[in-house]
Amino acid sequence: MSPAIDYSNARHAMIPPRSTERFARPRLVELPRPKGEIVHTHDGRELRLRNIEPGDEAALKRQFSRLSPEDIRRRFLHSMSELPDSMARRLCRIDPAIETAYVLMDETVRPAELRAVARIFVDESANSAEFSILVEHDWARQGLGALLMQRLVDDCRRRGLDEIWGYVLIENRPMLQLCKELGFVRRLTPDEPGTTQIALQL
Ligand SMILES: CC(C)(COP(=O)(O)OP(=O)(O)OC[C@H]1O[C@@H](n2cnc3c(N)ncnc32)[C@H](O)[C@@H]1OP(=O)(O)O)[C@@H](O)C(=O)NCCC(=O)NCCS
Repeated sequence: MSPAIDYSNARHAMIPPRSTERFARPRLVELPRPKGEIVHTHDGRELRLRNIEPGDEAALKRQFSRLSPEDIRRRFLHSMSELPDSMARRLCRIDPAIETAYVLMDETVRPAELRAVARIFVDESANSAEFSILVEHDWARQGLGALLMQRLVDDCRRRGLDEIWGYVLIENRPMLQLCKELGFVRRLTPDEPGTTQIALQL
């Protein structure tokens, strides 16, 4: 009787694929296209403009930690030492029926950082929307505030709203100047000392 052959250490030879498969073009894997669009600052830096997403929560919190107390007060109209998790979550999970929020993401760093955010909140009963906007200090004076405000105005028009408005501190010259250039007018707000309401009829 011939001795049994031990195959346990033998390498398995691969049978070549059929000729139709051997020479077939490699199947291309479709990668998800990045959302949004690339925009450039006046000094040539690149950012991605897109809608805010639930996954932006950590980036939003990191951005808050880079803000000066003055920028925080100007954006939120009062002082805040931190952005609570619940608020960050809420700001990133919008209801598209009544909200729009754009972010400008800096994808040249890892993780990508959120450099600016602008949003509207629609009041359906008044057919108007309240806006807010924030551009991080190191990215200011680069045309980003004007770009984002214009996008918000366009969005409000698309929604068929009559007005976009917001509260701005009277000392906030940059914002008042920016909005004046876009045609916003100031309204008296006697019950809110130190604050003015600015509005644009659409
Ligand atoms: C106000 C703010 C949004 C402006 O953003 P920005 O990206 O710097 O604005 P832009 O570069 O698009 O500037 C557009 C125009 O606004 C005016 N402007 C902006 N910053 C200014 C400043 N420091 N002084 C005077 N005018 C200023 C200018 O007319 C400017 O046009 P110009 O640069 O051609 O002169 C930004 O400073 C910011 O986020 N501030 C803190 C948060 C805040 O105030 N939010 C508003 C209340 S919700």
